[in-house]
Amino acid sequence: MATRDFLGHRKADQRDAPPMERSTDPRPRPAAPTDWSGIEAILLAAGLPAAGAREHLATFVVAAEADRVVATAGLELYGQSALLRSVAVDPAARGHGLGARLVEASLALARTRGTATVVLLTLDAADYFTRFGFARVSTDQVPDAVKSSTQFQGICPASAIAMLVRLA
Ligand SMILES: CC(C)(COP(=O)(O)OP(=O)(O)OC[C@H]1O[C@@H](n2cnc3c(N)ncnc32)[C@H](O)[C@@H]1OP(=O)(O)O)[C@@H](O)C(=O)NCCC(=O)NCCS
Repeated sequence: MATRDFLGHRKADQRDAPPMERSTDPRPRPAAPTDWSGIEAILLAAGLPAAGAREHLATFVVAAEADRVVATAGLELYGQSALLRSVAVDPAARGHGLGARLVEASLALARTRGTATVVLLTLDAADYFTRFGFARVSTDQVPDAVKSSTQFQGICPASAIAMLVRLA
């Protein structure tokens, strides 16, 4: 029986045919340790902080063309709540729904982990995240566990907008 990754996709094995994917339509998959340098490059190119991300690589998703990471999104899990961070798409690959697929994959992962509340911080993409159900909140509405994350502890400027979606 085929094994599946945390997104519910069958893991490839030697009996599987090579994936037939359009280069502009790579499918989100769980990040692997070897993806880190690609993830870091995407984050830096997007002006997002990379600090603290590697520690949560096990709950990051990526989209890759050939072996090159072109988009990423990450979850930091804190019990019943989670921080969605590092949502970034290579500038050349934007506007094709890749960011949306990674956000949806991250929210699906959060659901499988029993997460009730997902929070994010953004400087200028608040309008983007409303399409996934996120709404702006004040910092005092953010669960304490998420406030302990590196992002809330000072990586992001004080001007960042906090947003929250309830999954349960
Ligand atoms: C935000 C981002 C992830 C979107 O990725 P993407 O793959 O281009 O987005 P999608 O293809 O899923 O969606 C495109 C739609 O989002 C809109 N959009 C893109 N960036 C936006 C932003 N910053 N604010 C509001 N809307 C935005 C586009 O106008 C487009 O709208 P349409 O569907 O009405 O045409 C990407 O622009 C990016 O990497 N930005 C820099 C990093 C960042 O700001 N990340 C968010 C904070 S963690």
